[in-house]
Amino acid sequence: MRHLPTDRVLLAPSILAADFCHLGDSIAAAASGGADIIHVDIMDGHFVPNLSMGPAIVQAVRPVTSLPFDVHLMLSEPGRYLAAFIDAGADHITLHVESEGNLAELFDQIRSAGCSTGITLRPGTPAISLAPYLSLVDLVLVMTVEPGFGGQSFMAAQLSKVSEIKAMIDATGRTIHLEVDGGIGPGNAAQVVAAGANVLVAGSSVFQAAGGVAAGIAALRAAAQPQ
Ligand code: DX5
Ligand code: ZN
Repeated sequence: MRHLPTDRVLLAPSILAADFCHLGDSIAAAASGGADIIHVDIMDGHFVPNLSMGPAIVQAVRPVTSLPFDVHLMLSEPGRYLAAFIDAGADHITLHVESEGNLAELFDQIRSAGCSTGITLRPGTPAISLAPYLSLVDLVLVMTVEPGFGGQSFMAAQLSKVSEIKAMIDATGRTIHLEVDGGIGPGNAAQVVAAGANVLVAGSSVFQAAGGVAAGIAALRAAAQPQ
């Protein structure tokens, strides 16, 4: 995702909310409906109390689109699985700051494989915990729900963290995407963009939109435009 612009809003549908029985078709619909990125949520039942999908699923759907795969690893020990997700076709990998392992070394491994890097944090983790990693990443992801499940309500209290992290990013002078994830939809897209986010992850509001996937993306895009 390093090559994508940071000065416009990018939409990243989360396939966690897609129809798993027709996952390839759902991803194709997101791509043709105007998605910029495909967000892939990986859960280990330990770091978060839920299981989602593994590298075999990522590999299976990889040929469906040339859009970048943004892989969000909610794993206690991400180092054990990095190579598998890279081989499966990840373009970008985001690690949790609360995960175990030497994150700087893991970012090196991700970069050496030609992927871009991201760091994220739970809602209760302070922004300052990211400071040691801002020189190593292409993206910061602010969780606006407790990670683990799709379909939760947006935590408006995280908006001030988005602004705080935007200021930290600007102070580095580096080009770093600022992504938000959890409960994002047309009702809050303008707020998160105003706070500094440029990448919006959206599961339910895209894949379960009443008018279909393309309509869900269009509504989010319209709502996210700066006024
Ligand atoms: C939560 C995941 C999110 C989630 C987003 O752990 O990281 O990506 O699937 O889904 P919605 O948009 O439904 O909150
Ligand atoms: Zn996610």
